[in-house]
Amino acid sequence: MLDIRNLNVSYGNVQVLWDVSLNVRKAEIVALLGANGAGKTTLLNALTGVIPLRSGEVEFDGTRIDGIANSDIMERGIAYLPEGGRLFPEMTIQENLEMGVYPRKLWGTRKAQLERVYDTFPILRERKRQLARTMSGGEQQMLAMGRGLMSNPKLCLFDELSYGLAPIMVREVFRIVTSLREQGITVLLVEQNAYQTLEIADRAYVLENGRVALSGDSKELLANDYVREAYLGL
Ligand SMILES: Nc1ncnc2c1ncn2[C@@H]1O[C@H](COP(=O)(O)OP(=O)(O)OP(=O)(O)O)[C@@H](O)[C@H]1O
Ligand SMILES: [Mg+2]
Repeated sequence: MLDIRNLNVSYGNVQVLWDVSLNVRKAEIVALLGANGAGKTTLLNALTGVIPLRSGEVEFDGTRIDGIANSDIMERGIAYLPEGGRLFPEMTIQENLEMGVYPRKLWGTRKAQLERVYDTFPILRERKRQLARTMSGGEQQMLAMGRGLMSNPKLCLFDELSYGLAPIMVREVFRIVTSLREQGITVLLVEQNAYQTLEIADRAYVLENGRVALSGDSKELLANDYVREAYLGL
């Protein structure tokens, strides 16, 4: 579904990603772990055309997307939720969701898609007339996810979904990510919360200083001594 090959990315003269290769298969949850500054957000921005590549290839759903504009990439079925989301605080929940429909070809299915999102997040349906800014952090994160899903994506890129959330909300958000996989949606999940992420992910990659230091099945990584010490604090 997503195949990243030998990606190199620089900000000016400073190279941040080095020869990064990563793949995600259909209906998999793949985690991208790493410390602050490892290059996780840079990787998401590079593969969605937000920032340019220095070299490397990105293939999505059988077609090369490197060098393509961000808006075109989104139209091909990728939903990208950046760090901290970006809601319209003075709009209601429903208005925020309606703002999430990008591709023109999906306008006709807007109502059906809205119902599908409300089925995934019943709390959003209950509160649909409430202003986004009056929601709790966890509810806002769900709204941001719901808005991403309005475009009926094949692949979701989530950057630090669990950041700043109370433990009970973290579990809820991760439960929803698991339910996306059941709906056949593929997920690349950037997280610092390594333990809980590895519990729901099928596979994971660990970035260190812009390079893939480790990758494998989540179960293997959970049992890996280095991962346990460096990322799980065990
Ligand atoms: N716009 C930018 N200009 C210059 N350097 C940048 C820019 N954005 C990020 N960097 C640098 O690139 C490196 C990787 O940053 P990035 O945000 O990708 O890390 P991250 O893994 O997402 O970290 P975090 O977990 O803190 O979100 C860091 O050293 C950062 O300072
Ligand atoms: Mg980041």
